[in-house]
Amino acid sequence: MEINILAVESSCDETSASIISNGKVLNNIVATQSVHEKYGGVVPELASRAHQQNLIPVIAETLKTSGISKDQLSAVAFTRGPGLLGALLVGTSFAKAFALSLNIPLIEVNHMQAHILAHFIDDPKPNFPFLCLTVSGGHTQIVLVKSHLEMEVIGETLDDAVGEAFDKSAKILGLPYPGGPLIDRYAQSGNPKAFEFPLYEMKGYDYSFSGIKTAILYFLQDRMKADASFIKNNLADICASIQYTLIALLMKKLIKAAKDLGIKEIAIAGGVSANSGLRATLAELANKYGWKVYIPAFEYCTDNAGMIAMAAHYKFLAGEFVGQEVSPLPRMKI
Ligand code: KG4
Ligand code: ZN
Repeated sequence: MEINILAVESSCDETSASIISNGKVLNNIVATQSVHEKYGGVVPELASRAHQQNLIPVIAETLKTSGISKDQLSAVAFTRGPGLLGALLVGTSFAKAFALSLNIPLIEVNHMQAHILAHFIDDPKPNFPFLCLTVSGGHTQIVLVKSHLEMEVIGETLDDAVGEAFDKSAKILGLPYPGGPLIDRYAQSGNPKAFEFPLYEMKGYDYSFSGIKTAILYFLQDRMKADASFIKNNLADICASIQYTLIALLMKKLIKAAKDLGIKEIAIAGGVSANSGLRATLAELANKYGWKVYIPAFEYCTDNAGMIAMAAHYKFLAGEFVGQEVSPLPRMKI
């Protein structure tokens, strides 16, 4: 039997659709919303409206480029959560209506599970059990992955996500949104030990990133009082030091979890996995601890429907479908 699934993703500010055929992701169409740039962050109301405008063209494009027609579809999948309620409602409502009109099953997908299952789109694929560090603008989690659909969050942020810490630090430095990639770029020519920021440690494998942002703010206010050009003259060193601190925080708990659980298969997912400092540090740790590190192609690190399609394929095989009464869960847990 052919298994062709159409998947939609609309949890935050990317409208995306993908077709997966017998476990192979055929395409991954993403419409990025630039409307949020001037506000310095995602505006939920504007995200919902942009999804409403972008979804149908994105789906039409996915169907067209995949060569799979509507009546060859076996199921429709959508992101149920976590995410912004209004944004999720757009994708959910579409998926429900489309499944109903085609009289095919509906599959709900957890966005965080999907970030992890992005590792199964291309080779090499991690071996179970593995640890996945999911780092993005909305999430920071260490997940113990036992099988495709069996996952346990063993640590997570108690406040800001690490991507948020990058973006908020960048904002304090006067850089545009999203500032994470800019901090990465400036950090490449800076000294990571130039300035020292506190390493706030939580219990177990949990994280906290809100304190560091405040520490950076006070540090900069202090230095700018003495020298109004301090940021301008030290931008590379400041960025390198911020990045060094955030990566050190991330790695401390990941190393602890890997040691405690005796796991050497380490995966990383989410937009922050594009960070060059994080990638370099992971390569060093792989050497030091004998880890095998897996990082998906960038296209599948940031929010995308390819990963939703991959998750949907495993759920289809497991017979996990939902009814028309389903509604989004903004705080959905793994
Ligand atoms: O996964 P993603 O595209 O969207 C969600 O938040 O779900 O992640 C976006 C986040 C933003 O906070 C952005 O600043 C951060 O990933 N980011 C980076 C880099 N590229 C993206 N942070 C640091 N270094 C980068 N190179
Ligand atoms: Zn995400």
